[in-house]
Amino acid sequence: MDRIRLVGGNPLNGELPISGAKNAALPLMIASLLTDEPLTLTNVPRLADVTQLQRILVNHGVGVALEGRRRGEDDMLGQRITFTATDIVDTRAPYELVSKMRASFWVIGPLLSREGQAQVSLPGGCAIGTRPVDFYLDGLRALGADIEIDAGYVHARAPGGRLKGATVHFPRVSVGATHTILMAAVLAEGRTVIENAACEPEVGDLARCLVAMGAKIEGIDTHTLTVDGVEKLHGAKHAVLPDRIETGTYAMATAMAGGNVLLKGGRADLLQAALDVLGETGAHITQEEAGIRVTQNGNGIRPVDVETDPFPGFPTDLQAQYMALMTRAEGVTHIRETIFENRFMHVGELARFGADIKIDGQVATVTGVPELTGAEVMATDLRASVSLVIAGLVAKGETLVSRIYHLDRGFERLEDKLGRCGAEIERLAG
Ligand code: EPZ
Repeated sequence: MDRIRLVGGNPLNGELPISGAKNAALPLMIASLLTDEPLTLTNVPRLADVTQLQRILVNHGVGVALEGRRRGEDDMLGQRITFTATDIVDTRAPYELVSKMRASFWVIGPLLSREGQAQVSLPGGCAIGTRPVDFYLDGLRALGADIEIDAGYVHARAPGGRLKGATVHFPRVSVGATHTILMAAVLAEGRTVIENAACEPEVGDLARCLVAMGAKIEGIDTHTLTVDGVEKLHGAKHAVLPDRIETGTYAMATAMAGGNVLLKGGRADLLQAALDVLGETGAHITQEEAGIRVTQNGNGIRPVDVETDPFPGFPTDLQAQYMALMTRAEGVTHIRETIFENRFMHVGELARFGADIKIDGQVATVTGVPELTGAEVMATDLRASVSLVIAGLVAKGETLVSRIYHLDRGFERLEDKLGRCGAEIERLAG
């Protein structure tokens, strides 16, 4: 298994390109199931999760055509992929495929709304919490679906072959449930109102693509989505929005290592809460035409308390990276995780660098230390693993991060991007 080797101490300087958002690309790819015409996505990141979802879509009968692979410098540009679901050949999403990636459960929405039926394996738990699917199933039931669970599969059927519009109220904000019910509602008969919808930018990106495909959706980027179902959707072309979590991760890496980095293509409006916090910690952040510039002049990192929240709050997907930064702050920081119940797995690994972190329920108390020392550490989930890289950027001596397949799920060519900005970082094969 590949590992990443870092030697800490170099500042970051230069330009770092931001890829298309993984968490937007995945639902956009799934939306291709809604039409028999081609859906072309541009700015698609090269990630293991994207490849895995392609396998799942192919299994349903979707044709996947990758256009114009680019080489050299241009490799940092996103991919252009056309998905064509002329016929859905299989409405079953098997355990072997769904269990590898939770987002693949979302196919249940478009399959049910276009084909009137779907059999999708339950995704199961995952490292960061139990992550149930009750909101999805209650929402689909509200749209008239009959749902049965048998042998680990959800068997869903729309009586008469078509879902019926209804009001769906989520007990709490859920990104995946919003994506799924939105994709189910666009082909349902009549009006659906989704209340307490997630308004994460990736939901807005999906909604805009659906509108380009002929869907009727009002209230995009708000907590109430109103969808008037149409009989058919058509093909479209859509550019995946920039990855706000990748942007925030490299902004924190720069705040940690010091230096001056242009996060090319990054959009501050997608992560303002996190950038505001970073500014309070002492980093200087400006939106330029080409992207976001982050500078940190080495004057020390101030501790700032943070609580994760749904958008527009501080994202849970940046909590681990922020904790890594706070391990070097001049004082004590409290970090409260409110979205997932078990998202502190990076704490044990950060301790291996000499970090001082105590957990009490959902709150981590981080007491900054003057120096981290390089260590052998293990990635446990996607965002946790990149927090170890951030720590390694300043840790004295050598850091070896193992199990980096987690990183490859969501960070495109991380070692190249950081290496070009001056980090001493390499991938060790084997
Ligand atoms: C999405 O997961 C993201 N994944 C996550 O990013 C992200 O952390 C999360 O949203 C929150 O922003 C993708 O977009 C692929 P939720 P999702 O449903 O949709 C509870 C990453 O690292 N809940 O918004 O699965 C749930 O347990 C990943 O890229 C229910 O109780 O998250 C959680 O506590 C990790 N019942 C809360 O809601 C349900 O039926 C919010 O989860 C559904 C959710």
